[in-house]
Amino acid sequence: MPDAPFLSRTATRTPVKASSDAPQQALDAHECGAVSARRTRRYGATAAPIWARAHGTQLRDATGRTYLDLTSSFGAAPLGQTNLRWLAALVKQGLTLTHGLGDLHPNAAKARLLAALGALAPWPNARVMLGLNGADAIDAALKTALLATGRPHVVAFRGGYHGLMLGPLAVCGLSDAFRQPFAAALRLKVSWLDFPTTAQDAEATLEAFASLLRRPKPPGLVLFEPILGRGGVTRPADGFLAQLTHLARKHGCLSAADEILTGLGRTGVCWESTAQGALPDMLCAGKALGAGLPISALLLNPKSAEAWSERGAALGALHTATYFGSPLLCAAALAYLEALQRPSFVQQVRAAGEAMLCHLRRALSPLGDTVRVVGRGLLIGIIFENGPIALAALGRLRERGILALLAGASGEVLQLLPPLNLSAGAYVRMSHAVADAILGAEGTLAQRLESARPETDDAAA
Ligand SMILES: Cc1ncc(COP(=O)(O)O)c(C=O)c1O
Repeated sequence: MPDAPFLSRTATRTPVKASSDAPQQALDAHECGAVSARRTRRYGATAAPIWARAHGTQLRDATGRTYLDLTSSFGAAPLGQTNLRWLAALVKQGLTLTHGLGDLHPNAAKARLLAALGALAPWPNARVMLGLNGADAIDAALKTALLATGRPHVVAFRGGYHGLMLGPLAVCGLSDAFRQPFAAALRLKVSWLDFPTTAQDAEATLEAFASLLRRPKPPGLVLFEPILGRGGVTRPADGFLAQLTHLARKHGCLSAADEILTGLGRTGVCWESTAQGALPDMLCAGKALGAGLPISALLLNPKSAEAWSERGAALGALHTATYFGSPLLCAAALAYLEALQRPSFVQQVRAAGEAMLCHLRRALSPLGDTVRVVGRGLLIGIIFENGPIALAALGRLRERGILALLAGASGEVLQLLPPLNLSAGAYVRMSHAVADAILGAEGTLAQRLESARPETDDAAA
């Protein structure tokens, strides 16, 4: 992969030794273990690269080494790094109005964004609540359901991931370990269902959901990812989500699709849940929305939004924060939505995803059924037999200068989330590069397994 012009023009390949230790020392001295723990578990003594600058998918670390970034920053940089059109929109907004006054004095960029998001919703007259992180959108969905139904009982899925702030943490099914230290603060009643991948499992899960709905204290919300992302790039059985949302509606239970990873183009459609036939009452969007800046949104159908208007009229601002709807963040989101709505954008994502799946499957076929390649659009998972093997493959990719993620309950899935706006040739080249690195690793996998750490249940955020 050649360097982006910006990188090759402005920096040499010689490591920038004088300054390269300083960031690591600062992190070692000051970063809280809450943040550094996953990195230490994953990389052990080998320090993770400290990102210094980037353009598109080309990244340079603090030592001057270059990488091909196939993470899109956890899916939050769908146009790659330092996208010029997006930057131009930010500069324009920055020179016009940099901050609003939240809910009290709204701003024009926010008004435009609400209209743009409303137009993308699957229902007429949608309402929108803005936030910063994906977790904010989940928080807003949890609050909405409680206000609208009065039922403090939520149904969520094992393997689901919705963020780690206190609200979403209660419904995070990926690992009990996330919730356990904070159990005393998680008061919401949550019932867990299995995420079904076969028709038979779907029937059993729907039956379990129906029996919860028949209880004297039924759930007020069912929250689901249309494809488990961090849970391992797992697609539900065909038609399952459509039946789930239908059943919920029949029993007065709201449904919310967490499209924070899947939504807004990543899977080659605007909304993965509605593409699977579901009609949720709420849609949570984040990550891609700001194309690199923190902004999220909860889209609500008019009925679920009603409760806010009624209570708000009596009580005032029930849900707000200083930076919600900040004009700079809204301008970032508007710039991404403009790209998303270009006629060929999502078609190209679909085509690129199919080409990558096809290439990777063919190239990795010598590994037989020890490896499976799955995905939709540009949400791609390479599933290995276990976490240590996936971790070894991730390490091999990194040695070759390619950054990817781990997903799955035991970290057994190598997750690829490339930007959505590259040329068809770029996706083919990156598939080759990934497959070559994995196949190159094959001969040494056994030795790597010896040294691989067993605890790999720390999939990507
Ligand atoms: C499906 C899903 N929901 C919610 C979140 C939480 O988003 P954030 O980390 O922006 O709070 C994530 C993050 O990975 C996610 O993948």
